[in-house]
Amino acid sequence: MAASETVLRLPLGSLFSSCHLPSFSLNSSPLLSFKPSSSRKRRGLRCTNTLARGDTFQSPDCVSKGKKLQSTRCRCQRNDVEEDIRSNLLPTDGLKSDLDEMPLPVNGNLSSNGSTQSAGTNSIEDEAWDLLRQSIVYYCGSPIGTIAANDPNSTSVLNYDQVFIRDFIPSGIAFLLKGEYDIVRNFILYTLQLQSWEKTMDCHSPGQGLMPASFKVKTVPLDGDDSMTEEVLDPDFGEAAIGRVAPVDSGLWWIILLRAYGKCTGDVSVQERVDVQTGIKMILKLCLADGFDMFPTLLVTDGSCMIDRRMGIHGHPLEIQALFYSALVCAREMLTPEDGSDDLIRALNNRLVALSFHIREYYWLDMKKINEIYRYQTEEYSYNAVNKFNIYPDQIPSWLVDFMPNRGGYLIGNLQPAHMDFRFFSLGNLWSIVSSLATNDQSHAILDFVEAKWAELVADMPFKICYPAMEGEEWRIITGSDPKNTPWSYHNGGSWPTLLWQLTVASIKMGRPEIAEKAVELAERRIAIDKWPEYYDTKRARFIGKQARLYQTWSIAGYLVAKLLLANPSAAKFLTSEEDSDLRNAFSCMISANPRRTRGRKKTQQPFIV
Ligand code: GLC
Repeated sequence: MAASETVLRLPLGSLFSSCHLPSFSLNSSPLLSFKPSSSRKRRGLRCTNTLARGDTFQSPDCVSKGKKLQSTRCRCQRNDVEEDIRSNLLPTDGLKSDLDEMPLPVNGNLSSNGSTQSAGTNSIEDEAWDLLRQSIVYYCGSPIGTIAANDPNSTSVLNYDQVFIRDFIPSGIAFLLKGEYDIVRNFILYTLQLQSWEKTMDCHSPGQGLMPASFKVKTVPLDGDDSMTEEVLDPDFGEAAIGRVAPVDSGLWWIILLRAYGKCTGDVSVQERVDVQTGIKMILKLCLADGFDMFPTLLVTDGSCMIDRRMGIHGHPLEIQALFYSALVCAREMLTPEDGSDDLIRALNNRLVALSFHIREYYWLDMKKINEIYRYQTEEYSYNAVNKFNIYPDQIPSWLVDFMPNRGGYLIGNLQPAHMDFRFFSLGNLWSIVSSLATNDQSHAILDFVEAKWAELVADMPFKICYPAMEGEEWRIITGSDPKNTPWSYHNGGSWPTLLWQLTVASIKMGRPEIAEKAVELAERRIAIDKWPEYYDTKRARFIGKQARLYQTWSIAGYLVAKLLLANPSAAKFLTSEEDSDLRNAFSCMISANPRRTRGRKKTQQPFIV
């Protein structure tokens, strides 16, 4: 056990840049470690501060002292990595000089009395940049992320003082669009190091490719020398998170950001690094591993994404599927061909086809489809059943009948045996457009739907996280009476300004930027006056969320990304993916073989085999 553990549990991050690359097999057995962390103090990446405690920080001397990083060989290689990271931190992109000239905190300038924003949009943007810069977190003197919220009046910080992977994405994109690349590069490389960190919950270890939900930079006394301190990167893979939720979306976002970094900077050397390639493969391996599933969608527990609390989204939630698809497309673009990766590429391609077919066919909902479900036959035992998932027509909720406009449609929230979750989830729908998981027609129809349902989805502040809210008995049973997720609050029908950036990318991709412009204009009326809340409550988003943090970084960054992209729409290409012809061909073969489309027609001669 000890010997194999040394080999198997070595950090896979940059250590493999000069170590051997483990041969990759989709069928390799899962790695298990029954060694719980003996001490929190010893976790994470470490950076020794050579100065005595109390002195100001001048010259970081980073060493890796993590539990799994102790062999001389690895420490030596870690130093190479630190060198590599630091040598790229010269102020070539203006970040350092910008910081030097940064104005003092602007909070005092904010109007808090609810009066109309008198300043122009430029001053809102300037304020947003100042706040975003103030949220930067440093490790060994280098910027590596942004803290989730910087609310000076919040009485309970919980984990909002951490760098969340998903929250950093709009921050990272804002910095990329501004030409400030180092923070993104550092974020990518340091989180990669954390990916392979030992993670356990009550002696159980999740898959090695898992990326943390968040991490924190801690300053702790140096072991054995109390006069010295060191900085430690302390990741949370869900083992400390409320509800112990697994952050399935983290690794998917990491891949998406990595591709955006390469596209935006033109620097593909980061994605080509052996350790980064290994990191991508580790994530893919975790997602593509065989399980019990009948569906090509990713099976996850409740709360595994932006909605990180119990909200009845366990199973195959759309948000995860859209990010999964997007990450597969991005990874395919970045993977460098090499011996032993054929199986992975094949598995990835097969999954892309099956996943897009499954989502486009079975998640799609519009008037026509509702009518089809309304007239479904049930209990169809056969290979060519039309109602494959045995959906009982009585499941169609009464709100939906009036809600669905004649023009437009959307992808439903979840699909399980005998269960369709008809709720509209914004992020999943928007990212399906961005990644081309939805067809071109579906993408336009989703935007038509957004326009038709503006009063419900945008109202006074963009954008509803989902629609409608669960109320009464349904709320009690499905959320477990969660007092934070009461109807029209937080994840349960609350409105989240951060979603502005995804709305902007989607509408620019479809050549309809005016949708995003309208939403941004609306947000600008209140967002700075309200101090950049995390979310808004009520059906029309009229109140600042009951427990919403103020100065929430991804509300600030989401707004900035929307503004930057609207000013330079071609930059949205760093984030979007177009469907390629191979996928399109495979998809049309599958469509013509689908019984739903062929009932009454002659059987297709040559069904496409994935
Ligand atoms: C909340 C959100 C989650 C976010 C975190 C930090 O828990 O639900 O998506 O990452 O706050 O902002």
